[in-house]
Amino acid sequence: MSLPVLDDALQARLREVCAAGWEFFDRFDRTVRERGFHAFVASDYDVVCGALVAHRAAGLRFLELGSASGVITILADLLGYEAFGIELDASLVATARAMAQRFGSRARFVSGSFFPAGYSYRSADGEVRTGTLGVGASGYQELGLALDDFDVVFGYPWGGEEPVLLDLMKHFGGTDSLLLMHSVNDGVLAYRNGKRLRPT
Ligand SMILES: C[S@@+](CC[C@H](N)C(=O)[O-])C[C@H]1O[C@@H](n2cnc3c(N)ncnc32)[C@H](O)[C@@H]1O
Repeated sequence: MSLPVLDDALQARLREVCAAGWEFFDRFDRTVRERGFHAFVASDYDVVCGALVAHRAAGLRFLELGSASGVITILADLLGYEAFGIELDASLVATARAMAQRFGSRARFVSGSFFPAGYSYRSADGEVRTGTLGVGASGYQELGLALDDFDVVFGYPWGGEEPVLLDLMKHFGGTDSLLLMHSVNDGVLAYRNGKRLRPT
């Protein structure tokens, strides 16, 4: 299957999705995060979109770990990935589905944890805490796919949680699959088989 042409119309559509995402996040920030802790902080949509463009190729399957309002997964779908998101907060999953419908996206979202059943984190020095990464029933069964079925996996962990996603990919990710991790200071870093790739 060929990739959609990144013409003016598609770029305008991508910008509209990002704008809707920021509008939702501003409201979420004022109404939910003001009242108490919530792990959802939006990534820099423009920067992540650039990484999705740089890594796209025909026939790639994409998974967003912690897809929140769905913006990144929808961008991936519009760019030609077969795109899925897993999110622990069911109300955010409802938002993501509504957002996908609004933008005519086939992106699919499931509610649950991106940790497969049976996974537990332990670093080389015995650290087991996963920070803000929550626990819940695994979302892969509803997805009908496993983590190693995905060619490109995206996550935006909080600072210090990056080792958890690397460990998850090491144990459950596909051989040669690409992990894209967004970080506030470094943009989007790409990893394959646990090794960081040079920026493209
Ligand atoms: C820092 S936000 C990133 C949101 C979005 N990926 C983005 O880039 O804008 C992390 C998201 O992961 C979700 N989350 C945390 N732990 C999770 C888990 N174990 N399974 C699924 N989602 C999780 C949170 O609810 C939150 O929406």
